[in-house]
Amino acid sequence: MKTLANKVVAITGAGSGIGRALALRCAGLGASVALSDVDQAALDEAADRCRAAGGRVHAARVDVGQRDAIYAWAEAVKDALGPTAVIVNNAGVSLSQTIAEMSDADFAWLMDINFWGVVHGTRAFLPQLRSGAEGHVVNISSVFGIIAVPTQSAYNASKFAVRGFTEALRQELAGSSVHVTCVHPGGIDTNIVANGRHYQDPTGRATDVAEASRAFKKDARTSPDEAARQIVGAVLKERPRLLIGADAVLIDKMQRLMPATYDRLVATAMKLRDRRERKRSS
Ligand SMILES: NC(=O)c1ccc[n+]([C@@H]2O[C@H](COP(=O)([O-])OP(=O)(O)OC[C@H]3O[C@@H](n4cnc5c(N)ncnc54)[C@H](O)[C@@H]3O)[C@@H](O)[C@H]2O)c1
Repeated sequence: MKTLANKVVAITGAGSGIGRALALRCAGLGASVALSDVDQAALDEAADRCRAAGGRVHAARVDVGQRDAIYAWAEAVKDALGPTAVIVNNAGVSLSQTIAEMSDADFAWLMDINFWGVVHGTRAFLPQLRSGAEGHVVNISSVFGIIAVPTQSAYNASKFAVRGFTEALRQELAGSSVHVTCVHPGGIDTNIVANGRHYQDPTGRATDVAEASRAFKKDARTSPDEAARQIVGAVLKERPRLLIGADAVLIDKMQRLMPATYDRLVATAMKLRDRRERKRSS
């Protein structure tokens, strides 16, 4: 796709972080933006900012875990703005807990949003993407869709699943007018941890949302605006895979060099992080 001008771009989780930055960037480039989120106030604010940037805007409160709600949203977007050219399945949540101690409810909550939200968003919008001259699916995985980390099993499972689903989709659509990008961000400075459920850190220490969020912010080196800039670039260049941030590039290399033993480096990194956090709290 050479330009986003006059294209319809639909974004889930558009009220905050990467989704919000992407909405503003796309509106600024002349796209009509269809925004959805579960957080009505954040959604309204993002929609107002996009209107101020000059774009046509459709905003709807949609829970991506609700299959029928996503399909209804896809129809509402088509009625309001015309057929969608780009769907960005971005909405996501975080959770830190061991496999032994994680509740089924927390596991299901995360999978419904991070995995099933991506599946529903892709399948609901695919007919519209195929109906136009060109279309693009952007699914947001993570570096945690490349390596696994203790206490991140649910998040890892969801993001590895998004990667597998997206890579299969890309092959099924090869040679068609619809392109596919799987995005693996490293640490992006957003509310992902502040909005999550956090009980234990990777070294086994009890934690809570405030503490986990504080620690995350120290490691999140890339801004949401920079992430959005790179995602738009990947759509315009029809790139199949996007790593965002020096940390993502390093983690990807580490996994490929040490596929069965990278956990030793993860353990060392976690110990250093733990030492930093203990020093901070003493
Ligand atoms: N921030 C990072 O470091 C990072 C790294 C890798 C991947 N990601 C991924 O990037 C994506 C965007 O996250 P972010 O960092 O901008 O976080 P964020 O918390 O700032 O934004 C996520 C948005 O999703 C919305 N949301 C949550 N549950 C929803 C639901 N059920 N239905 C619809 N919307 C819902 C939230 O209200 C929020 O507005 C997520 O998929 C996340 O897993 C983030």
